[in-house]
Amino acid sequence: EPTLGELAAAKGRYFGSATDNPELSDAPYVSILSSEFTSITPGNAMKWESTEPQRGRFDFAKGDEIVELAQRNGQQVRGHTLVWHSQLPSWVSDGGFSAEELRSILRNHVTTVASHYKGKVVHWDVVNEPLNEDGTLRDTVFSRTLGESYIAEALRAARAADPDAKLYINDYNIDGIGAKSDGMYRLVKSLKEQGVPLDGVGFQGHLALQYGFPSRMQENLQRFADLGLDVAITELDIRMQLPADSAKLATQAAWYSDVTKACLAVSRCVGITIWDFTDKYSWIPDVFPGEGAALPWDENLRPKPAYDALRVAL
Ligand code: XIL
Repeated sequence: EPTLGELAAAKGRYFGSATDNPELSDAPYVSILSSEFTSITPGNAMKWESTEPQRGRFDFAKGDEIVELAQRNGQQVRGHTLVWHSQLPSWVSDGGFSAEELRSILRNHVTTVASHYKGKVVHWDVVNEPLNEDGTLRDTVFSRTLGESYIAEALRAARAADPDAKLYINDYNIDGIGAKSDGMYRLVKSLKEQGVPLDGVGFQGHLALQYGFPSRMQENLQRFADLGLDVAITELDIRMQLPADSAKLATQAAWYSDVTKACLAVSRCVGITIWDFTDKYSWIPDVFPGEGAALPWDENLRPKPAYDALRVAL
């Protein structure tokens, strides 16, 4: 039986999962993580609060643990994430820095982390979640102090630190055509026109049955690809209101299949990452109370209908 990773590889794509350090002591979990996927994303270990919790004090222990596991398994690593407003230590978010100082803090962070992982991270989510729902630039300490230029600064520093890594901007609710993905389209088109180093756009794919399937997903991915960018589904999960039942699980399976088909129909869609693979470790119930059952394996590490649907679609 080929794995999801092998099925994707036969189509020239990767199939990955996020993971997190505390989960690595769960042997049955690690066994599936190590065998089924060709790419791994650290769910938290490479975020700013983990890698530079205090100014100039870098800590790569957790990220290194995940990179070493991936290397032992022959898996790629998607780095996540260098610049984000969330899980940002308070020394950055309420630092009251001048533009000049914050620019230098941002450059130093991106340079130090991307240099540490040079040659080990295949894709970097350089900037995560830069946009509001209406497609305008999100108000963060970075945009407030530096304007939109923080995005180009981060991308240029990442390129200089690791010239071979593919550099991405990543966001949620941009999977279908709408105001937010239109905003992302304008942003990345303008960056490309200015010659800013950008290789891809990450579509997180945090979907929910009650909100409907993203509108015209394949067409949306294709318009970004047509700008000369790679595209990837980076954090796929499909949540539902609990309790799960067989009808909801069947719809979820169909959606996993439809996302996969949308990606495979776009030659520049390079791969799919699910945001962990088992409901045992999904972030959804913590953040969306009453919702869950979002992943292709259940809480007992047993494959759900979504798993079979992925295998058929790949
Ligand atoms: C989530 C992690 O999975 C959780 O463990 C953490 O508590 C919060 O962040 N979009 C992103 C990811 O880009 O970094 C988030 O990950 C999920 C939403």
